[in-house]
Amino acid sequence: MRIYDVIEKKAAHHELTKEELQFFVEGLCSGKVPDYQAAALIMAMFLNGMSDQETADLTAVMADSGEHIDLSGIDGVKVDKHSTGGIGDKTTLIIGPIIAACGGKMAKMSGRGLGCTGGTIDKLESIPGFQTSLTQEQFIHNVNAIGMAVTGQTANVAPADKKIYALRDVTATVASIPLIASSIMSKKLASGADKLVLDVKMGSGAFVKDLDGAKKLAEMMVRIGEMNGRETVAVITNMNRPLGKRVGNLLEVQEAEQTLQGRGPEDLTEVCLCLAAQMLSLAGKGSYQACYEMAEATLKNGAAQAAFQSFIQAQGGAYDVIAHPERYYEKPAERTIHAKQSGYLQILSAEEIGRASMMLGAGRETKDSRLDYTAGIVFHKNIGDAVDHGEALCTLYAQDSSRFQEAAAVLAGTVTVTGRQLKPEPLIFIKM
Ligand code: URA
Repeated sequence: MRIYDVIEKKAAHHELTKEELQFFVEGLCSGKVPDYQAAALIMAMFLNGMSDQETADLTAVMADSGEHIDLSGIDGVKVDKHSTGGIGDKTTLIIGPIIAACGGKMAKMSGRGLGCTGGTIDKLESIPGFQTSLTQEQFIHNVNAIGMAVTGQTANVAPADKKIYALRDVTATVASIPLIASSIMSKKLASGADKLVLDVKMGSGAFVKDLDGAKKLAEMMVRIGEMNGRETVAVITNMNRPLGKRVGNLLEVQEAEQTLQGRGPEDLTEVCLCLAAQMLSLAGKGSYQACYEMAEATLKNGAAQAAFQSFIQAQGGAYDVIAHPERYYEKPAERTIHAKQSGYLQILSAEEIGRASMMLGAGRETKDSRLDYTAGIVFHKNIGDAVDHGEALCTLYAQDSSRFQEAAAVLAGTVTVTGRQLKPEPLIFIKM
């Protein structure tokens, strides 16, 4: 077989066989297929799409490109959740402790940020001392003892995805439904969970911008999960606005704690309770409604916050950074943006909020950028809230105050005050 012929076949709109996809993936991992030919094939997949069978086959060969994690040492049903990524998405930090407080198990492998969306591992690393690379034994021990653990993706879980993603990232081929589905599901299939809950983000701050695309992505991932013997459910949630009121690594850890104390923003709390209830129900803890109520109770009775503290401390993190960041970090500089007129707060693009937070230092502009863990944005109002002229809308934080000007210019184009109160968009579109 020649990779040239495989590229030519895909460019001519023909369906690739599993053998051809395997030849490509193995060749890329071994170095026999050079990056320029891989990028050409990926572009042909991006432009011409892929059938369900091709997508399932690509997922399987990518999942088999590295090790399959064995979670059999964890008692009970292991349910994983995956979010397709968005701005201010700190749901893992909240759902894990809720699951643990309800007697469930969450063994989570997470990644760093992609583009301007923050990654769970980056957020957790804003906690001084927090270990994000656990050995398999520590990981399993912590899940059994505490009910949850989060570790970074090991280099050997779906290594083909890492190579393909790196090429997609620099060739404008990320936003393809079959490529996103196979990327996410290859890692999930290799990570060893029994069942999966997928949070498919839809909107300006997500990879998929419209409901039709989000439905297709969700259906495709559910099908891949089921074809591989993993019961999978998907929820489509709104990413036309950031989730919660804080964007930035340590800022989001702080908001996660508030939410676990039952004092979090309504949108974030609702999405977390919905996903946690889906996970608990899949784990056999009862009906969705019963699990929702069980999850909600843990935010009121202190159990979820206690689980969060145990989880952070078990992985070596300094929990007091949440209440006392000044013990570990220089106080960041701040700049507040005020309303130029009275009206109602509107955010035009979640993506622009992500871009502004990246400019402040909360996300990576290049693979090697160093993060400022204290950087980010705090909104003082919810979308649709009434604001008076001169009232504070949001505050920017960064160690390097020279970053404010550019970030504030981006925010000025997207955080606005309108004269008319707009009907709020749904937060959760579809549970499937
Ligand atoms: N998240 C992933 O892991 N892969 C994608 O392609 C997009 C989002």
